[in-house]
Amino acid sequence: MAIAAPRLVPPRIAPPAQPLEGLAFLARFVRNPLAVVPQAAYEGDLVAMMRGKTPILWITAPALVRQVLLDEREKFLKLAQIRLLSPLLGKGILTSEGADWKWQRQAAAPMFRPQELAGFVPSFVRAAQGVLERWRARPGVQAVDRDMTEATFQVISATLLPSADARMPQAVERSTGLFQRSGAWGQLYAVANLPKWLPQPGRLSMARAIGTLRAAVLSLIGERRASGVEKDDLLHRLMRSRDPETGQSMNDEQLVDNLLTFYLAGHETTAKALTWTLYLLARSPHWARALREEIARVTGGSDVNAGHIEQLALTQQVLKESMRLYPPVPLMTRQAVAETRLGEYAVRAGASVVMPIYAIHRHARRWEDPDAFDPGRFAPAREAAIPRYQYMPFGAGPRICIGMGFAMLEATAMLATLLRRAEFAALPGREPAPVARVTLIPGGGMPLAVRLGP
Ligand code: HEM
Repeated sequence: MAIAAPRLVPPRIAPPAQPLEGLAFLARFVRNPLAVVPQAAYEGDLVAMMRGKTPILWITAPALVRQVLLDEREKFLKLAQIRLLSPLLGKGILTSEGADWKWQRQAAAPMFRPQELAGFVPSFVRAAQGVLERWRARPGVQAVDRDMTEATFQVISATLLPSADARMPQAVERSTGLFQRSGAWGQLYAVANLPKWLPQPGRLSMARAIGTLRAAVLSLIGERRASGVEKDDLLHRLMRSRDPETGQSMNDEQLVDNLLTFYLAGHETTAKALTWTLYLLARSPHWARALREEIARVTGGSDVNAGHIEQLALTQQVLKESMRLYPPVPLMTRQAVAETRLGEYAVRAGASVVMPIYAIHRHARRWEDPDAFDPGRFAPAREAAIPRYQYMPFGAGPRICIGMGFAMLEATAMLATLLRRAEFAALPGREPAPVARVTLIPGGGMPLAVRLGP
């Protein structure tokens, strides 16, 4: 079905016309790492620049992205990301490489099979209904960004770790807040390979927050071991898995690493997808109406259930287009560990390769009217024509997001539940700027006026 909506170009980053140098680069990077991606990256295939002695390559051509993430993946490792996140996430699934990574991925995979995921839908719906109840209790303008983060956090607790105790949410919220705030610094240190001993703002308070959080998770594991109770959740499966090479099971430290990884990777991202989607719908009443009609037709007025999800086709189109314009993970990085070529460019070991998903999704030669909101791009026939490495909010290759199916189901069920009861309007004069932290956040938050129906 084609929706005739007026053209909408929501807030975007104005890229620098020329690659920035020296202090100008640093000043802009600290405020928003995406704002240093030069115009040329949105138009060409590869932009190379030097940061000190480290070459940084911005790649946006699907063929080059494929080479890094798939064909030559053993030459491009996640060293900077590991450095940035390992103080918090240790050597869990997101922050390890090679055989270490592989067995942890295999251990977690069964939780993400489609038949398991379908059983989670009632938890997704309940979390969204909880948000509606809170909005009803205090009507008016709502901090949508904060509310989506709270709700997706409840989802992760209820689905993957139903036994988590009440201290966890507080500790996780505090430490992710600190992590987000000092995130740009961390990314700068990691991308530019600066030495660890350089003073880094906020490092001490972050170290304390991380300590609290890891202790809370460790005590959860201790309680589970002591109780002898077997609950079929992620923790139980991780405890039972064995490394095929050594026959060892995960020790407490590895369990903490992975539980925290799923807690953090699994809620902040989906929260941002929903936040930006609600903003786009607030700006596009035509699409909001079309979705509401679809949801009413598919659900027949009942709560959303697993059987409805596939039929909510327009709802999913809107989510996909929202993640094109505002990918929750806006930048992916790898470091070359061997010599190779990327197109014409001779890559040496030590080079940083940045795949700015945000710019790949708005590339001037590869997308028609790239900055405009047009969910029609993801209508089945048109979506099939989009090359694989040109649209990748969940990454690609073997390290693709393990939670992709989970997140799509969760976001669809939650969005449909919210739209059944609520209408959203943007506040005049408030344009949320996309800012890259660990995820793509709306600078200044996302206050939206919410009107609730019966
Ligand atoms: C809209 C929501 C989400 C987005 C946009 C997203 C995006 C991504 C991206 C881009 C990566 C790849 C990073 C890289 O290769 O450098 C990734 C990896 C990962 N994601 Fe997600 N994610 C989302 C939701 C989730 C959820 C719900 C979970 C868990 C329940 C999750 C768990 C993970 C894990 C564990 C990895 C690491 C996988 C590995 O290295 O093998 N994500 N995600």
